[in-house]
Amino acid sequence: MINTFADYKKAYRRSVEEPEAFWDEIAETFTWRKKWDKTLEWDFHEPQVKWFQGGKLNITENCLDRHLEKQGNKTAIIWEPNDPDEESRHITYRQLFVKVCRFANVLRQNGIKKGDRVCIYMPMIPELAIAMLACARIGAVHSIVFAGFSSQAIAKRINDSQCKMLITANEVYRGTKRVNLKAICDEALKDTPSIETVLVYRRTVEPTEMQEGRDKFWFEELQKATDDCQAEEMDAEDMLFILYTSGSTGTPKGMVHTTGGYMVGTAYTFENVFQIEKDDVYWCTADIGWITGHSYIIYGPLAAGATTVMFEGIPSYPDYGRFWEICEKLKVTHFYTAPTAIRALARQPIEFVEKHDLSSLKVLGSVGEPINEEAWHWYNDNIGKGNCPIVDTWWQTETGAIMISPLAGITSARPTFASLPLPGVQPTIMDDQGRELNGRRESAEGRLAFKFPWPAMARTIYNNHERYKDVYFSTFPGMYFSGDGAYRDATGNYRITGRVDDVVIVSGHNLGTATVENAINEHEKVVESAVVGVPHDVKGNALYAFVILYDHVEPSEALEKEIREIVSTTIGPIAKPDKVQFVNGLPKTRSGKIMRRILRKIITNDIENIGDTSTLLNPEIIEDIAQGVK
Ligand code: WT7
Repeated sequence: MINTFADYKKAYRRSVEEPEAFWDEIAETFTWRKKWDKTLEWDFHEPQVKWFQGGKLNITENCLDRHLEKQGNKTAIIWEPNDPDEESRHITYRQLFVKVCRFANVLRQNGIKKGDRVCIYMPMIPELAIAMLACARIGAVHSIVFAGFSSQAIAKRINDSQCKMLITANEVYRGTKRVNLKAICDEALKDTPSIETVLVYRRTVEPTEMQEGRDKFWFEELQKATDDCQAEEMDAEDMLFILYTSGSTGTPKGMVHTTGGYMVGTAYTFENVFQIEKDDVYWCTADIGWITGHSYIIYGPLAAGATTVMFEGIPSYPDYGRFWEICEKLKVTHFYTAPTAIRALARQPIEFVEKHDLSSLKVLGSVGEPINEEAWHWYNDNIGKGNCPIVDTWWQTETGAIMISPLAGITSARPTFASLPLPGVQPTIMDDQGRELNGRRESAEGRLAFKFPWPAMARTIYNNHERYKDVYFSTFPGMYFSGDGAYRDATGNYRITGRVDDVVIVSGHNLGTATVENAINEHEKVVESAVVGVPHDVKGNALYAFVILYDHVEPSEALEKEIREIVSTTIGPIAKPDKVQFVNGLPKTRSGKIMRRILRKIITNDIENIGDTSTLLNPEIIEDIAQGVK
């Protein structure tokens, strides 16, 4: 593990000068059935990347079996239910091992073999972790679909990868609501001919409709299975899972992650970014349905032998203090969440925080979007009490693991900076003409690309290698293009400026919507904002700002003026939004990203062509915003 800034610099230099030797050494700390013959083979033009070729392993032997001897009785997963009165579950490494083996046998009994795709649509319960690890144990490829997606979205994903089995639960609790997941699945299953079997976990006692011959209860199947399950031997480059992520066009992209590199990458970044120690209790609040949950609730933490928390509920139930109550109750040491959650909680009376003892916390994390300065400070002051380094971790579904981030307490953590690349990561900044801005000791702003492969990167898009090449490797030939913009200061620290498709050119000036939003969010009466570009006769584009105010604040013209002024003073008059509209909410994806594309459609009165809004967290807000458009 990296312990000092000097260690970091040394590791970084080595990872660039001798990348193969660098990763060999890290990979050797894992359990392989057979060592690899070739560390790396790559070509970003094809594109083709292979790590640890010829190596044989099973990732679950690394996440489970190898911990049994030394720490079989250590808690692997602490599960915290939606209802605070229901008991938490503490599952040791040994117990998890047995459960995974047994369920893996259930999969085998039902005809699932190495390479088969299994769709998992489950709530945040330990059985979701068990199901995914059981797939990995027998070499089946899991495709987890976030249990908030619609039946259409499930069907689309199942059909794209021809899943043979669907694993789900009858119902899910979310705050005071109970959602019938099985009914949503049944709707999807009308359209998914590849599915042969549906396994249903009973989360509630409600009666569940089952289709004879196709649907089977988890518990009944478990009765027929033994605990002994030989793990399938996988090649390092065998597929581990598919995870769908939205693209700028309609169809989701099935990102393919493979076994060896993903394991090495997630465990290495987990340990070093969070600086995990033996008795830590680590909690990532993401859903396992997203890459954050795959890499940093399950695979990274378990490969590292850590204790990882899984939370079934929502931050506002039974009240807005729930996160902090759980931190206190479980003595959480590492807390990793998204800026959107931080902003939502920062809106609430501070008593929700102050009621709880947060003294167990050592490290805070942020992921998913740029964390604005105000949210950063709120998080730092009120949750970390100024004592917990904040790791602002930049990465993507496609990168599999954290790429740019402070190492907790070791490298500097400045608000709005994701800071430095991790060892093994070679970022660069490109200008619009495709030239690399690599001047030393000079700042640069442009597009964020990567010059060298890293072990956890996605290898392709399932069944669509052409699209993979087109989206990530054609903008800057020979490099991986992230789709994000970034600024690098003279000391080499990176600040992510947002998706480049969210960059607006106003009178020939390049403005990141995130930069303008940051400025607006600095206003003490503003909770959150979203800025988009609208066509303008003279300037080419003008900025239009949607602003959410604190509950008790009355919108007014004076306030509008103040907001325009604050932008003018922080960035410059050029960035002043032409219009400011006060709104009650913003259209967001379930991972919390503001859908600026939808806001643009609303402004240009093009609601008919808004596209599929079923993946939005709050589709009802569209009408509400449209009413207020100026
Ligand atoms: C996009 C990837 C990584 C897991 C969750 C999202 C944005 C992510 C940060 C950060 C600024 C960030 C980027 C990136 N993003 N983390 N720390 N600072 N932006 O995964 O859905 O694949 O989204 O999220 O724009 O490209 P994803």
